[in-house]
Amino acid sequence: MDILLGLQWGDEGKGKLVDALSPEYDIIARFQGGPNAGHSLEFNKVKHVLHLIPSGIFHPEKLNIIGNGVVLDPSVFKNETEHLGPPVNELVKRLVISSRANLILPTHRVLDAACEHQKGNLKIGSTLKGIGPAYTDKASRNGLRAGDILRKDFRELYEEHKAAHMALLKNYKYEFKIDEFESGWFEGIELIKKFRIENTEYLINKLASDGRKILAEGAQGTMLDIDFGSYPYVTSSNTISAGACAGLGISPRQVREVFGIFKAYCTRVGSGPFPTELSDETGELIRKTGCEYGATTGRPRRCGWLDLPALRYAIMINGVTRLFMMKADVLSGFRTVKICTSYFIDGKKQDEIPFDNDARIVPEYTELEGWSEDISGIREYKSLPLSLRHYVGFIENYTGVPVKIVSVGPDRNATIFR
Ligand code: GDP
Ligand code: IMO
Ligand code: MG
Repeated sequence: MDILLGLQWGDEGKGKLVDALSPEYDIIARFQGGPNAGHSLEFNKVKHVLHLIPSGIFHPEKLNIIGNGVVLDPSVFKNETEHLGPPVNELVKRLVISSRANLILPTHRVLDAACEHQKGNLKIGSTLKGIGPAYTDKASRNGLRAGDILRKDFRELYEEHKAAHMALLKNYKYEFKIDEFESGWFEGIELIKKFRIENTEYLINKLASDGRKILAEGAQGTMLDIDFGSYPYVTSSNTISAGACAGLGISPRQVREVFGIFKAYCTRVGSGPFPTELSDETGELIRKTGCEYGATTGRPRRCGWLDLPALRYAIMINGVTRLFMMKADVLSGFRTVKICTSYFIDGKKQDEIPFDNDARIVPEYTELEGWSEDISGIREYKSLPLSLRHYVGFIENYTGVPVKIVSVGPDRNATIFR
């Protein structure tokens, strides 16, 4: 199994590359997160955004798996399958759902919103898809799982869970309506019943032992990991490579390559520390050129220069074997580009990512020559501008990991392999 995951704060371009790499694999599997993810991919001039469904779904001969580590919202699943293109009778051949994947209930979404509302200035900036409350129920052993859908008493179970959530919601000063969510949710439940719901850990291990190639598709990014991100400004799952084993039921001995994907700069959507953030016209320019608006919520993404101390940290935690650099085309046109090479805190150089979110990090930058050409049509590494190749070389020297893909546009073909 190879794992592809984000090294920054999400939205690195995972969807695009999973789609582009899918022809080399037999199985594409999501292992964590849920509809908070928005994975974009583009081919034949059409852009698709996936939230729950793995990004290998447009390749008819591939098997896609929603693993046990994912939290599944039936209403999002229904919307997504309806807008995908291929009909349901075709999709059921391409997609299997783990019976152990926990369900996001309509009341989880309300709880997410109520909880954020109560936080006032300390909001996490959640996508409000019910992720936190659903993982809370999973960890506290109160969740409903995809396999439960097939039980005769599913409706009763649902009502019990809903009642427990309604009792919790009394603690919040938050007005809400649940009925409109519920009808779509139950339609989603009926749709899910048409798909294979099984113990996918057996399926995936059988396929691995038959020599089939598996690509695990991460969601969010390492700096949003529940353990290693800037807690509490994180998501509620392990987004790192270790999460792929737990989220699919496959042993670490099966892991071959870990592909770490990063943008040539940084973005973050939601609250929390962002040492290299540019709150000026340069940040605005990157946002405009890179179309940096959330694929799930439409929120403007915060933009800044590439942060190498954070990237090195993410490489260490994940055991990254190859780096893939995205959106190099977006930086075209800057006379110089900056890269953060170290952090200074209280005047002292600091090698570690601080535990304390309030630490006043002053980034130290190295300024490199920019590139001005439109590179979006280039398909060979050696044809890229020399200054961009220097930029890549600088990152490789710093991290000690080779950059094996440079992406120069959103289309699946705008991908340069080295
Ligand atoms: P994901 O969540 O990691 O899959 O990333 P998103 O889809 O949320 O955000 C990445 C955005 O950048 C999407 O709009 C992609 O279409 C776009 N994109 C991906 N790679 C490139 C690239 O190399 N250049 C440009 N200009 N856009 C890209
Ligand atoms: P993909 O897979 C970027 C962020 C939210 C918020 C924090 C917690 O597209 O890269 P949550 O909804 O999980 O409670 O939100 O995490 N976040 C993402 N940011 N890309 C994502 O997914 C994200 N999923 C969650 O903005 O700051
Ligand atoms: Mg995204």
